[in-house]
Amino acid sequence: MKKYQNAKLSTKEVGLEITVFGWVNKRRDMGGVIFVDLRDRSGIIQVVFNKKHLKNNFELAEALKNEYCIKVTGKLQKREESEINPNILTGEIELIVNDLTILNKSETLPFNIYDDKEINSELTLKYRYLDLRRDKLKKIMMMRHKINKAFRTYLDDNGFIDFETPILCKSTPEGARDYLVPSRVNPGNFYALPQSPQLFKQVLMISGFEKYYQIAKCFRDEDLRADRQPEFTQVDIEMSFVTQDDVLNMAEGLLKQVVKDSINKDIDYDFPRITYKEAMNRFGSDKPDTRFDLELNDLTEELKNTSMTVFSSAIEDGGIAKCLIVKNNKYSRNEIDRLTEFVKIYGAKGLAWLKYDNNEFSGVIAKNLELDIQNKIKEKFSVENGDLVLIVSGKPKVVFASLGALRLKIAEDFNLIPDNKFNFLIVTDFPMFEYSETEKRYVATHHPFTKPETTVKLKDPENCLSVAYDFVLNGYEIGGGSIRIHDEKMQEEVFSALGISKEEAKLKFGFFLDALKYGTPPHGGIAFGLDRIIMLLTGTDNIRDVVAFPKTQSAADLMCEAPSIVDVKQLDELNISIKKGIKND
Ligand code: AMO
Repeated sequence: MKKYQNAKLSTKEVGLEITVFGWVNKRRDMGGVIFVDLRDRSGIIQVVFNKKHLKNNFELAEALKNEYCIKVTGKLQKREESEINPNILTGEIELIVNDLTILNKSETLPFNIYDDKEINSELTLKYRYLDLRRDKLKKIMMMRHKINKAFRTYLDDNGFIDFETPILCKSTPEGARDYLVPSRVNPGNFYALPQSPQLFKQVLMISGFEKYYQIAKCFRDEDLRADRQPEFTQVDIEMSFVTQDDVLNMAEGLLKQVVKDSINKDIDYDFPRITYKEAMNRFGSDKPDTRFDLELNDLTEELKNTSMTVFSSAIEDGGIAKCLIVKNNKYSRNEIDRLTEFVKIYGAKGLAWLKYDNNEFSGVIAKNLELDIQNKIKEKFSVENGDLVLIVSGKPKVVFASLGALRLKIAEDFNLIPDNKFNFLIVTDFPMFEYSETEKRYVATHHPFTKPETTVKLKDPENCLSVAYDFVLNGYEIGGGSIRIHDEKMQEEVFSALGISKEEAKLKFGFFLDALKYGTPPHGGIAFGLDRIIMLLTGTDNIRDVVAFPKTQSAADLMCEAPSIVDVKQLDELNISIKKGIKND
């Protein structure tokens, strides 16, 4: 029997006897004639039951309810002119059913499948299999398939070899927390789920495979956000004998092809490349959204000698002052006060503001700030009537974080972000180290296998750069990578700069340090966050929409109710006992 896809049927098949399968999306009982929108993966076809043509007892058709799974055979015919529905692909045709088989019934549904009405996410996650029947998720899943395929095709065409690396790995925590798996046969020992296949792909370079890729599952036990899942997918890539430019050019070509193959859009510009330093100075972020301007402006020079100590003392303490200029301001006094609360979330002590109206500045600051400084500000930034100047001073980290976030908020408040724009950006020259307040030490900004720009600066962690880069799309970090250290001595120096002793390094990465000794080629690579790319290409703002079976904010799978307690017997086999006071029954 020929299996048709419902929405692929057209007037070409009119007159043929056809069998289709699917679910009752919606039914209309006109008394004696029943119209059913029959849905399968491809879409909808109208099937018509009437007593004249139906061989079965008509009661069978009358018993149909939404989401019954059925098989129907009948003759495809053209609809009456007045019955044509231009909104669906098969709007000109309908199937006049002569034989109906109910393959399975459905219980009453917890929500409608035939519309995409936003409903309580707990309910849709619990019944994910039903949500996946709805149009929105179905379309995204089909697009996910297309995007996956586009990545594979390009990489395959360019000589990359698809590998699978282990899921049960050695725990090497750096960055996020590991998910641990106890070993039964080695009591007291644990595997970790990979945060990424980083070391395996480097080992494959040492093994001589030159070009590797993998669509890899990664696991990170970290706080979740709208663009983060505890279990997510990377398009992981590694190449030997390459420079940074080789990796970036390949990755840029890859992304352009993926966008073309999936949403048929030409990205007809070279991805701009800016350094981390420039990104922070201009946008206050290492993943700037460049779809709108509103850049950060520097005021350090202008404010360093003011009598207003909020600014001058901060600058004297090694801080900076920066501002955003809101053109044609529409914020009221109250709203500006709320912006002050907003920047405080990012550690700013306050938000100073100057309003320019009737050719003069007003606001609390205007009363205290020297006139010549006010004039300098006006001239430097060509301030005009109606403009609002928002200033934050303090440690660079705080100024960048608060104004970077405020920039996005203003863009949202004033609708500055154009639709349908794909602004790719490459950020290079990341700092090698960043200070971790929680660990009270410097940690690797990227990872400890990243090559420093020069080893000379390893002792100056605040100023040491790395050969690491990120890909950014519309304000999201969609990929990151680096040129790696391929020299054992340099790797030791970097561990030492990170405060990782020789013994600790041997314990955690011994196998890798050994491997480095056997003719390791120079190499580098990148990993793309596949889920985030799909999110952006399908226009959704929640990563959960692009994962077939996602986890909630608290890392739970509401459909299969994971995580869950396990039998005491299972724990005994693993030599594990649950601490007193932890609820596990
Ligand atoms: P990195 O940690 O930057 O690099 O990860 C690469 C990309 O993966 C995506 N990503 C995530 N997506 C969803 N949920 C998460 N929790 C999550 N965490 C990261 C981001 C990010 O840019 N091994 C290195 C790559 C390399 O050096 O080659 C790595 O994993 O889009």
